[in-house]
Amino acid sequence: MNAASDFRSDTVTRPGAAMRAAIAAAEVGDDVLDGDPTVRKLEARAAEWLGKDGALFVPSGTMANQVALGAWTKPGDEIIVEREAHVVRWEAGAAGFLHGVQSVTLSSVRGAMDPEEVRATIRPDFIHCPRTALICIEQTHMGSGGSVVPLANFEAIAAVARERKLPVHMDGARLANAAVASGLAAQRFAACADSVSLCFSKGLGAPVGSVVAGSNEFLQRAKVVRKRLGGWMRQSGLLAAGALYALEHHVERLADDHALAKALAHALHGLPGLACPPESVETNLVLVQVAHADFDGAALAARFKEHGVLVSALSPRVLRFVTHLDVGRADVERVARAAKTILNA
Ligand SMILES: Cc1ncc(COP(=O)(O)O)c(C=O)c1O
Repeated sequence: MNAASDFRSDTVTRPGAAMRAAIAAAEVGDDVLDGDPTVRKLEARAAEWLGKDGALFVPSGTMANQVALGAWTKPGDEIIVEREAHVVRWEAGAAGFLHGVQSVTLSSVRGAMDPEEVRATIRPDFIHCPRTALICIEQTHMGSGGSVVPLANFEAIAAVARERKLPVHMDGARLANAAVASGLAAQRFAACADSVSLCFSKGLGAPVGSVVAGSNEFLQRAKVVRKRLGGWMRQSGLLAAGALYALEHHVERLADDHALAKALAHALHGLPGLACPPESVETNLVLVQVAHADFDGAALAARFKEHGVLVSALSPRVLRFVTHLDVGRADVERVARAAKTILNA
């Protein structure tokens, strides 16, 4: 059988020849001792792309978010965060474990929290209440299948935050996808937040790395948190070179991933027991609702695997396909063929 068509995540990509050449050629130094020139270059370029004073290179998106949380909060504080957000759902309780903060979670419409509900959730200055320290937003919103949260929603939340003198952190792991899909500059979204994380190891295709960006004042505190978490690395220019290559060369091509995700939804929507309306696919994630008498999500994923297609079963009723640099039209056709065979369609 051919190599598997791997739709489990946009993190499964392997660096191509040009990225590997950039990594091999990277000028490096000890970043902790006297600085790594390639890390400096990446941080400056990412900060410019996001419209912030500066950025810090860290190994992962989780660390980028947690550095920001640590820089904005004190133990006993509370953060306001969307219910399905990565920060609260998929970071193993890091906010509580590392920083001693609790989360109050709000529901949303495809990642867009109601600004008035956010306002109403901010705690009064009262000795019995925790201090609300931070509002967290996410772009794109993974929990609702990579939706692009409207700029107007973020602007309304940012206005509430400014009015109450609260900072906003944006988990922008897939902000580049949102920028490409919406046609709006990443800076427009980033301007709604005081700190922004951005991952290079997802749709942008680098092997490792994220940044967290913000004002110089924020970065001073963030640097201390990164140090405490062990995220300040030595000759990390080798990693930064891959990330820099990704930022320079792999942003515009995200449109191909988005088109492929739509094509995949068209191929699967309406097959017996499957629903994934193509109009709900905004970027590179496709959530497929499974309602079949013979298969739940896990059983279907297992059958797909027999046909060389790897996909995540998020729950008994939901499969998730993610498109990326290393899958193409032929892989989508393989999914369509496999689905028809499995479902006798
Ligand atoms: C929205 C979002 N934020 C943060 C992360 C964390 O990134 P990492 O896996 O690099 O820690 C992910 C990972 O999938 C994500 O989807």
